[in-house]
Amino acid sequence: MTVEQKKLRVGVLGCGPISQAGHFEACSKASNAELYAICDSADELRSRMQAIWQPTVAYADYQQMLDDENVDAVIIATADAFHIQLAMMAINAGKHVLCEKPLGITIDECEELVEVVNKTDRLFQLEHMKRFDGGIQAARDFIQTEMGQLVAYKGWYCDNSQRYLTINAVQPQVILSDSKRKPKIAPKADLQQYNLLSHGSHLLDTAMHLAGDITEIESHYLKRAGHQCWLMSVAFADGTLGQLDLTLGVHMDWHEGFQIYGENGSVVGKTYNPWFYKSSDVEIFSKATGNFTRPLAADGQFYRRQLEAFADSILNETPIIRAATLEEGLRTVRTMVAIQESTRTGKSVRVADARGSV
Ligand SMILES: NC(=O)c1ccc[n+]([C@@H]2O[C@H](COP(=O)([O-])OP(=O)(O)OC[C@H]3O[C@@H](n4cnc5c(N)ncnc54)[C@H](O)[C@@H]3O)[C@@H](O)[C@H]2O)c1
Repeated sequence: MTVEQKKLRVGVLGCGPISQAGHFEACSKASNAELYAICDSADELRSRMQAIWQPTVAYADYQQMLDDENVDAVIIATADAFHIQLAMMAINAGKHVLCEKPLGITIDECEELVEVVNKTDRLFQLEHMKRFDGGIQAARDFIQTEMGQLVAYKGWYCDNSQRYLTINAVQPQVILSDSKRKPKIAPKADLQQYNLLSHGSHLLDTAMHLAGDITEIESHYLKRAGHQCWLMSVAFADGTLGQLDLTLGVHMDWHEGFQIYGENGSVVGKTYNPWFYKSSDVEIFSKATGNFTRPLAADGQFYRRQLEAFADSILNETPIIRAATLEEGLRTVRTMVAIQESTRTGKSVRVADARGSV
């Protein structure tokens, strides 16, 4: 007789583009989780998503979803400005949380959440699905086990001007709603802040996941010819030198990746537009063997893989492995605040001294 494995019953808050293109399918395909509930205050959008994805139940009101005892965990997929308040509500209702990146916008609000979550036994994981990209995982494994001391990390994340042609070609039809709940200040009102929060958070998380904490940052910024460009010199905690390039609107293909030089080898990675669901091409050179390795990480559904890891930690009471923790989310917000300050002042900023808001 086979014992049916318990599945994590997930409630997804927000039926917007990221849920439609990522989370609903991840929940439906996960081996150890199910799309139990969805929630959105926009009635027509929620009804359409209910018809397509067939959750057991759909809620217009978030508190009602939190009051549902059958919901084990929530995925928070709303505008950045809402993340902290909605995460607090979920934790206070006793739910585990998988929250979209970035964690928040101000350092203070993120610190407050860390304090609240740490008083509970609830699992809080941040959505940084690139950590579940098998190519990036191979790079990290090599760094952790064989690379020895790191010398330099170069990372780039350049969204391209053709992105919507690509996205429209590969994503399912995304339904937008005029009645969706929006923050008081439109996220794109300040494009510099928006790009740092949306794209910079990925660049920083990958860099810190592979090379450790960034302690100091000097950022040079140029807005020209329709581009926003940050070129940054950074120092990692162990003394590794770093250069980061965040440029939005490059006239070429999606351009994201990293090069890492170390004591016992090197790693070069090319990351694809996420909506292709294709793992990064990573080439690892080992000084010991004199060989290159190029892993084929055939399962590129990193949203599903991330959710399965989250569910596994909860169902089996195991610690978070690979995924971005709450503290790492705070660290990324702090680093973004340091970038803003360095951009404003033209000076190098110690991340530990950063205060205020992205
Ligand atoms: N990981 C990634 O690669 C990735 C990619 C895109 C977006 N994101 C992140 O995902 C998040 C959501 O992005 P989006 O474009 O889908 O957002 P969106 O604002 O278009 O959609 C959010 C939905 O949540 C609903 N909502 C908000 N607050 C609510 C509440 N209190 N009760 C009920 N419904 C509520 C809104 O009505 C809306 O339909 C953002 O933080 C964004 O940065 C991540």
